[in-house]
Amino acid sequence: MKGIILAGGLGSRLKPLTCITNKHLLPIYNKPMIYYPIEKLVQAGIKDILIVSGGTFAGDFLMLLGNGKEFGLKHINYTYQEGQGGIAEALGLAEHFSEGEKVAVILGDNIIENDITPYVNKFKKQDKGAKIFLKKVEHPGRFGVPRFKDKKIVSIDEKPNNPKSQYAVTGLYMYDPEVFNIVKTLKPSARGELEITDVNNRYIKDGTMSYEILKGFWSDAGTFESLYKSNELIRKKLIKEKKLKIK
Ligand code: G1P
Repeated sequence: MKGIILAGGLGSRLKPLTCITNKHLLPIYNKPMIYYPIEKLVQAGIKDILIVSGGTFAGDFLMLLGNGKEFGLKHINYTYQEGQGGIAEALGLAEHFSEGEKVAVILGDNIIENDITPYVNKFKKQDKGAKIFLKKVEHPGRFGVPRFKDKKIVSIDEKPNNPKSQYAVTGLYMYDPEVFNIVKTLKPSARGELEITDVNNRYIKDGTMSYEILKGFWSDAGTFESLYKSNELIRKKLIKEKKLKIK
């Protein structure tokens, strides 16, 4: 399985912080945000990784990460998303990279506490389709929100005013190679973007979507509140693991 990290966008919700750098290079406690999804993939044994970035500061990823030596990698692949076509468009740019393999996709601003190896192994055994990961959150309306019927997801609403469950669809996704054909059929949403939720709804409709409830903490870091919360979660984790000296 290959790994794809989507780190484009203008990070407009974090202005003025993102006027001088890419959102995914902002600090989450003691590391740049992009380190966390890279570490998750590497920990799960996924070493063939593509970073899709965009905007004015895309070159900074190369300066920071180089060939990924710090993560035990020999090479990192990079590609560039022109414009603001959305998460699903960014994913579509990875078709050539996937070479017909399954892919694990992480949004570059998602901070996941636990090792994802068991999920990766489970998805390797899944015949076809996709897998998404849910987390119970206080304000689901800020995310993709699943609707359930008899514990099965029947659809996902993107940032609904009236959420039909307490769960957020997190930014960790696993897809079979069919995903690239699905992306090609998408139409821009009201905000003019190709939505990852539309990709997921296609798999749900086809009956090939599985899901898991993520254990451990999860947060995105795309707003001031969630950026702050992610910093706190990582700090607390480091203290718990005695990896942080506080004088
Ligand atoms: C995106 C997705 C949303 C998902 C979220 C997770 O939203 O569109 O479905 O729940 O990531 O981080 P964004 O944060 O890009 O607005």
